[in-house]
Amino acid sequence: MLILLFIIVSPLIFLLLLGKLKLNREQEPPLRLPPGPKGLPFIGNLHQYDITSPHEYFAKLGKVYGPVVGLTFGQVPVVVVQSAEMAKEVLKTQDLNFCSRPTLIGMHRLSYNGLDIAFTPYGEYFREVKKLCIVHFFSSKRVGSYAPIRHEEVSRLIDKISLLSSTSQVVNLGELLMSYASSNICRIAFGKRYEEDQGPRSKFHSLLHEVQALFVGFFYADYSPYLGWLDKLTGQSSRLERLFKNMDKFYDELIRDHLDPNRHKAEDDIIDVLLKLKTKSSFSFELTFDHIKAILMNIFVAGTDTSTAMAVWAMMELVKNPKSLKKVQEEIRNVAQNKGCIGEDDLQKLEYFKAVVKETFRLHPAAPLLVIRESIRKTTLNGYDIKPKTLVHVNVWAIGRDPELWEDPEEFKPERFIGSSIDFRGQDFELASFGAGRRICPGMGIGLAYLELALANLLYSFNWELPAGLRTEDIDTKVLHGITMHKKNPLLLVAKKFPS
Ligand code: HEM
Repeated sequence: MLILLFIIVSPLIFLLLLGKLKLNREQEPPLRLPPGPKGLPFIGNLHQYDITSPHEYFAKLGKVYGPVVGLTFGQVPVVVVQSAEMAKEVLKTQDLNFCSRPTLIGMHRLSYNGLDIAFTPYGEYFREVKKLCIVHFFSSKRVGSYAPIRHEEVSRLIDKISLLSSTSQVVNLGELLMSYASSNICRIAFGKRYEEDQGPRSKFHSLLHEVQALFVGFFYADYSPYLGWLDKLTGQSSRLERLFKNMDKFYDELIRDHLDPNRHKAEDDIIDVLLKLKTKSSFSFELTFDHIKAILMNIFVAGTDTSTAMAVWAMMELVKNPKSLKKVQEEIRNVAQNKGCIGEDDLQKLEYFKAVVKETFRLHPAAPLLVIRESIRKTTLNGYDIKPKTLVHVNVWAIGRDPELWEDPEEFKPERFIGSSIDFRGQDFELASFGAGRRICPGMGIGLAYLELALANLLYSFNWELPAGLRTEDIDTKVLHGITMHKKNPLLLVAKKFPS
């Protein structure tokens, strides 16, 4: 493909080099750019980029070039930071220089041209829309008000696994946890749950998978205005357009249902709240249906995927590490005694369980590169010059495995967090699993509540084993790249009801 690319673009390379020569003549002292692998004219480092596992690719570069690596994708400068010190610089000390988002084609289209929270550039609109969502959907009061839904959905999850266990069937945890998280989100966002055998549910899931993939989908036009035609050739542009239309239709139907005055509802869901806010016009911008759809998209995508992925990684590590599994189950069962389940109040008493959760975030952060940022102005990082509009990745996956920070970094050892004050709430840059600063995840409270309640009850209610013939060494840790890092191959386990 590279050869084809060169043949086609060689005249453009020539023009570009001419332009560069002219520019060089007018240039002041050269910039001191961050070190990185040498790229090729016109395409920069694009040919070296490993799109299947970018966090691992960047981590390898970090070992050669240090904690701030510089690359060029097409004509766009890219910087990757991969030490706790540099993460603090980007996410805290210089947050205001680095807190914007780039206008990448996939993200931009699916967020209704940046009308959401996650992909909108930094500015007045971002501040207002993030505040709106924190007040109305993500505050601790709100998260508490969703608790009855969480408990009901956890019971359903446990019932489903009990049924599989009673017939000695293998449990596909990822599938069941996805259905648990999406039922929770569907209920708080649009007031209903889809039963397993209903068409709309699988439609919703397949749309979500496709959105996930296209958010981080590779578009040539993002890196060079001359290469947009390649996106048409590969079918990427039409795939995006098709997905956008399907998603838009899905949101339209939901909003139309909510506008029906005869609709039966117990309590206001997120769409009801947004529609009410729309009529109040209490913002500096007009809240349109497109704004509502963009906000819904963030809640669906971020809300279902992240906690599912984390719960699967946690169970995988525990099954691979039977001593930790035994220890955490003993702790949970001691606290719950004979209550039959773990409630949210019990979670605060589970010191080792909390350490298991942190250790899982360290080794398998849901967003290994956080969400891509863009520098707003010219600045310096570790003595290197950073141009405005540089794409910035913070590699929390590499930081979580940095031997300078962690003893035996590749080992799953929850004990390391016992008696340690290191936390993932945005103050400790060794463990910035939810980001930090102005762009910190606003859904941390909801995400943790989903994850911890489900995980603790899975561990309380069942003993977990590998299917016959499998050994712990057979469980692979391969990842499926997307904006959230999922386990690539399903985690299949056998659940034995406790007490039997
Ligand atoms: C275990 C669960 C979760 C994890 C690990 C997680 C992680 C993250 C991370 C790493 C970011 C990017 C931060 C940055 O750019 O510095 C983020 C942003 C975001 N998350 Fe979460 N998240 C989780 C759950 C949720 C949930 C449940 C929701 C909503 C229902 C949510 C909504 C968002 C939004 C809207 C943003 C964009 C914030 C912004 O750009 O200012 N997240 N999340």
